[in-house]
Amino acid sequence: MNPMIRLPPDLPVKGACDEGTALIHFEFKNITKSYLGNLPVLDQVNFKIEAGGFYYLTGVSGAGKTTVFRLLLSIERPDSGEIYFDGEEISEVSGTRQALHRRRIGMVFQDYRLLPADTIEENVALPLRVSGYRGAALRNRIDRQLEQVGLVERKREQVMGLSGGEKQLVSIARAMSFDPKVFFADEPTGNLDQSMAFRVMELIQGLHREDSTVVVATHDLDLIRSFRAKTLLIKDRKIHEVRLTGQAGIS
Ligand SMILES: Nc1ncnc2c1ncn2[C@@H]1O[C@H](COP(=O)(O)OP(=O)(O)OP(=O)(O)O)[C@@H](O)[C@H]1O
Ligand SMILES: [Mg+2]
Repeated sequence: MNPMIRLPPDLPVKGACDEGTALIHFEFKNITKSYLGNLPVLDQVNFKIEAGGFYYLTGVSGAGKTTVFRLLLSIERPDSGEIYFDGEEISEVSGTRQALHRRRIGMVFQDYRLLPADTIEENVALPLRVSGYRGAALRNRIDRQLEQVGLVERKREQVMGLSGGEKQLVSIARAMSFDPKVFFADEPTGNLDQSMAFRVMELIQGLHREDSTVVVATHDLDLIRSFRAKTLLIKDRKIHEVRLTGQAGIS
């Protein structure tokens, strides 16, 4: 039987928790992944992410949450098994196809991956420049993305002077390049105080309301309690879809 996550019954369910006939966006088929000949982090794992869904990916530190994102982004290759995105096998892609696949996903990394000596706008500009944006088109795009996180007025500031939460907002703005239909956020509230964590989660929920598929990795149960969504738990090298019930805690 699946493990259960128990939650207070009176919280509003904001996430997409309905069973339905949604399209499958991502699918893991019998995925095994190990590093450097160590025991596998994931062992014969199967799971699906439906288009338009809002998911948590949870599990203890070291369970493999970041590894799952890296596999879905085709940054890592599995030892065996297949990974599909909209029906296309992506675990073995390379070159242009790999680059195009990554562009379809807005990734908010656990460690932000920002260039600290550069300005906010330069950080947001980077992926856009690489794909050929220049001049007014580039400036307009940057402003649009920064407006959504409330940082457009501060775009000339250096990233190294920002708080952790503000860096997270820059990272979210950068993930909006290319209008991806899929967003992954790896521990987006890990280093933030409660009010900033709430703001970041509201923003991420906003991305979902705009019809994207969103996966948030976290081991913060308070977060899962506040913003409900389908929850995938990595445990014992497998991924289980866990159900929400009435009391706090994971069993
Ligand atoms: N590049 C790597 N080389 C070797 N081992 C790795 C590598 N990346 C991850 N691992 C190992 O794989 C396991 C899963 O790591 P991963 O970063 O996916 O966990 P996580 O669930 O994201 O953890 P956290 O909550 O701390 O971010 C860990 O035991 C980690 O040490
Ligand atoms: Mg991680």
